[in-house]
Amino acid sequence: MITNTINNFKLDGKIAVITGGAGFLGEKHAEAILEGGGIPVLVDINESAAKKKAEMLSKKYDSEVHWFITDITKKESIINLNDSIISEVGYVDILINNAANDPKVDAGKNPGWSRFENFPEENWDLDFAVGLKGAFFCCQVIGQEMAKRKQGVILNISSDLGIIAPDQSIYSINGLSQDLQPVKPVTYSVVKHGLIGLTKYLATYWARDGVRVNSLCPGGIYNKQPESFTEKVERLIPMGRMANADEYKSAVIFMVSDASTYMTGSTIIVDGGRTCW
Ligand SMILES: NC(=O)c1ccc[n+]([C@@H]2O[C@H](COP(=O)([O-])OP(=O)(O)OC[C@H]3O[C@@H](n4cnc5c(N)ncnc54)[C@H](O)[C@@H]3O)[C@@H](O)[C@H]2O)c1
Repeated sequence: MITNTINNFKLDGKIAVITGGAGFLGEKHAEAILEGGGIPVLVDINESAAKKKAEMLSKKYDSEVHWFITDITKKESIINLNDSIISEVGYVDILINNAANDPKVDAGKNPGWSRFENFPEENWDLDFAVGLKGAFFCCQVIGQEMAKRKQGVILNISSDLGIIAPDQSIYSINGLSQDLQPVKPVTYSVVKHGLIGLTKYLATYWARDGVRVNSLCPGGIYNKQPESFTEKVERLIPMGRMANADEYKSAVIFMVSDASTYMTGSTIIVDGGRTCW
């Protein structure tokens, strides 16, 4: 019998929760789900952006797109969210832990604030609350439901910086003394490495319960950054360029569909080769 492997990539009718779904990459994950035939559920704290994105995507794909406003740092909110999704949309098949608190790496009004020596405890707590605790709560509530039903896929969105340390030279500003130079915050590295740890823990924990858990590490994406910045990033990437926002969609479809039924606890890096150097 000839099997048609391409059919394994189909997501027909699958319900996919995307945290941070109203953000830049969240929209692309939602497009991936829609292009596979699934139903995206955008979960975000930003009401106007979530509503706008859901309406735009629904029109663009002439498809069902749902949105819910939830602060994923609060477990109670996620319990309520899960109940609402089950009653209004259906049981969740796919969870994409994508939300992050991503403060801009610039000197701003308080030069040097992001440097390790000065990094504020409040920022440590907030970045962890969204990026790691939020993912933990979503897995605890939505993942647990998947394990009970013996089916589900979790995809944690890490980063190339979940694999390697940031090269701080790309953030440097001419004329500033070393102690005031902006840096990529320590929380970004620790949260993104932490998500890979959470992935491996849960992949083995639920391995026999029908729930697969994997991480995707995207590299930097062109998003109207100044040329002075992108030129520096491009030099760190063997392919000589950053990603276009659409270039992760195929990996997402692979990782959340039946095309990857034997993959769990794995990390896929899509970064133009950056982490090889
Ligand atoms: N953009 C990139 O170049 C890039 C590269 C590698 C990895 N990533 C990762 O991809 C993910 C998405 O990045 P992005 O560029 O789309 O970021 P983004 O800032 O555009 O989107 C993040 C979304 O998370 C939402 N959010 C923040 N706090 C929340 C909370 N408490 N509850 C619910 N939602 C909350 C925000 O409202 C926003 O819509 C992040 O995990 C990021 O680290 C991004």
